[in-house]
Amino acid sequence: MAIRCRKCGREAAIMMRQHRLALCDEHYLEWFVEQTERTIRMFRMFDRSERVLVAVSGGKDSLSLWDVLLRLGYQADGLYIGLGIDGGIRYSDQSYEKCMRFVEERWPEARLIVVDIQEVYGETIPEVAARTTRGRDKPCAVCGLVKRYVMNRVAYEGGYAALATGHNLDDEVAVLFGNVMNWQAGYMARQGPVLPASRPGFARKVKPFCRFYERETAAYALLRGIDYIYDECPYAEGSTSIAYKEWLAKLEEERPGTKLRFYLGFLKAKEEGLIAFRTDEAELHACEKCGQPTSAPGICAFCRLWERRRPARVIPNPVRISGS
Ligand code: AMP
Ligand code: FES
Ligand code: ZN
Ligand code: ZN
Repeated sequence: MAIRCRKCGREAAIMMRQHRLALCDEHYLEWFVEQTERTIRMFRMFDRSERVLVAVSGGKDSLSLWDVLLRLGYQADGLYIGLGIDGGIRYSDQSYEKCMRFVEERWPEARLIVVDIQEVYGETIPEVAARTTRGRDKPCAVCGLVKRYVMNRVAYEGGYAALATGHNLDDEVAVLFGNVMNWQAGYMARQGPVLPASRPGFARKVKPFCRFYERETAAYALLRGIDYIYDECPYAEGSTSIAYKEWLAKLEEERPGTKLRFYLGFLKAKEEGLIAFRTDEAELHACEKCGQPTSAPGICAFCRLWERRRPARVIPNPVRISGS
């Protein structure tokens, strides 16, 4: 027997076992948008008077997030960081194309800021990684550092109230699981739907999709007709977080709702002070080169990456805005 939509009785497009909820395509799209709004309010992420910067990778989560924020009437601009990753699949080029297609369909409402790392700093992520100790085995650590730096800097200097990323529940749970496995209390203290801009130089970080399972964001993108890049980053293969995701999927399969309970339970315990974390309030100063806050002596970790690179074209403002 076909499963029916709870709202209208038509054939369901998606069944969410953890919520005991089945919905047709039309009511699913509606539910998804409403749930995002609830998450934004529940965690006091931002309001309609504030400008939000959405970091978009061309994937289903971040493009869906941008779509939903625009539909909800938020002032949301996009930020795409060109990493210069090929991996035999033109990974970065494809990602950029998906972002641009999204913008073209929604122009002039959707404005995209593009920071191309090679154009601005002279080298692609795999090139920088290959000549630094941090990136000797894989470029992922270097890539993470660069993305965090650029996202924060563009959001802060652009006067945005918050930087939103497309992290979903599966991402958050895999990170939390890793932090628990290694008892990284400092990381746990900083993990959550909102990371406040505690000090000057830092933007507020928010994750409005943190309560959605990955299959839910994928379903939204498909049903909404958002064209996104299906491929994962070619360097992600074999990563610990993918292994954690596979184990957690087995737990979820046997006990629907396990991931959601694990994550929300963690947030509640933190809120109630049940888990006490030591937050690292390291002394910060302005990087001698770029002025961004850093705890490293002299220049920041990001600037140190580029010390031995070949000379790049100097672009005073490393930001390009589509259509301008
Ligand atoms: P990932 O670290 O690849 O799992 O991506 C997590 C989130 O970071 C995505 O949902 C995006 O919001 C953001 N992100 C990842 N890659 C990029 C990129 N190249 N440019 C802008 N934002 C990105
Ligand atoms: Fe950065 Fe894979 S190494 S996205
Ligand atoms: Zn329905
Ligand atoms: Zn610096």
